[in-house]
Amino acid sequence: MLLAGSPAVAHPLSFTPAQGAYDIAFVFPGAPANPGIRMLELHRAADGSVSGWVTSDWYGRMPMQQIVVTPTLLSFDLRNLNTPGVPIRHWRAQVRGQNVTLDGGIWDSTVALTGHRATAAERTALTFHETTLPALGTLAPDGLALTPPMGWSSWNKFADKIDDATIRAIADAMVSTGLRDAGYTYVNIDDGWQGVRGADGQIRPNAKFPDMKALADYVHARGLKFGLYSSPGPRTCAGYEGSYGHVRQDAQTFADWGVDYLKYDLCSGEYFYADADTVQRSYYEMGAALRATGRPIVYSLCEYGRFRVGSWGRAVGGHLWRTTGDITDDYATMARIGFEKNGDPSDAGPGGWNDPDMLEIGNGGMSEAAYRSHMTLWAMSAAPLMMGHDVRTTSAAAKRLLEDRAVIAIDQDARGVQGKAVRKQGTSEIWLKPLAGGAYAI
Ligand code: GLA
Repeated sequence: MLLAGSPAVAHPLSFTPAQGAYDIAFVFPGAPANPGIRMLELHRAADGSVSGWVTSDWYGRMPMQQIVVTPTLLSFDLRNLNTPGVPIRHWRAQVRGQNVTLDGGIWDSTVALTGHRATAAERTALTFHETTLPALGTLAPDGLALTPPMGWSSWNKFADKIDDATIRAIADAMVSTGLRDAGYTYVNIDDGWQGVRGADGQIRPNAKFPDMKALADYVHARGLKFGLYSSPGPRTCAGYEGSYGHVRQDAQTFADWGVDYLKYDLCSGEYFYADADTVQRSYYEMGAALRATGRPIVYSLCEYGRFRVGSWGRAVGGHLWRTTGDITDDYATMARIGFEKNGDPSDAGPGGWNDPDMLEIGNGGMSEAAYRSHMTLWAMSAAPLMMGHDVRTTSAAAKRLLEDRAVIAIDQDARGVQGKAVRKQGTSEIWLKPLAGGAYAI
């Protein structure tokens, strides 16, 4: 970072040596994992212009804005994310000899850290390597997901408290409950399976998943399909390793393990891909990488419905795309999504579906009548039906709803039309879904 030919002060004890160029860095060992603030760099060129960066595990090397520097106090802004109405956050760094205190915040994290001047080795080790996205391309339909995908996902019930034995037991229960035979074929591990990368860059599962290929084989042996989860960012939403910088490698690893379904969740990628162009290109990058493996893999886009994803989700290889933020196990949230946030019906059809998020049926937070509305809304919307409860303890009531063959037939109708309200009166709505062969579900 030192400018060739400019006088430089390598180790100033304050932010502003009397004159000339300088280039300093502080590191923050022991910073909390989220957002994983690792390093602060400040650079002054010979012409006096100052630039700086804060490097974090989640958001990479974030450029400082509005930098004001005095001998011992540095203040600056960082672009914020995910907080409507708060586009930037203010930060301050105070030098005390070889140490620095840093205060700021980003999204839902408050940062208050003490760091020390970086050695050259520390700085090299903590330098974040940015990758560039491919130009946007278009992927032709591949014949998968001709009807909305059906299965189970670990997130709603278990969050990241999952392990190999639980997933195997769920697969067994999918068979013994009859849910597999009712059409629920995917067994999807959501966030929380990831470990660290090896020296070769290859992602490894964490200790709770000793052998991902063996687990996929176990699931396949029961006539089921196997799904995993990753993010285009360096960190997933729960803070695990994402695919940033390893997209093609991860796609190949997933294919080698026998993965049939990938949910790709924007999470920390939001800082890198904050507009329509970069979000599309990042989803295209993984879509193209999955295709390149030659394995048929259903590709689930999870960027919360931003930038009219329904209008470009298919072109980047997606078979379903989330239309909203997360569902929770309560009527108000479920109904808001099901009635208002289930996507534009004109975007949905064979091969590509609006995804209003996974089911909560069986998790206990809603009444039986509310769960019936949940199942009805999802089926009339031709929504993917991803169960989210503990299948091992499926109640009789949940089983009745989830295995209702007539309702499933409406969801899975080959014509693939997303139904919608055709009349609204007070709090009542009449919904219509045209079916194959000219019939209607009302
Ligand atoms: C996001 C997604 C959820 C789930 C979690 C996992 O919130 O929207 O569906 O995958 O991340 O961390």
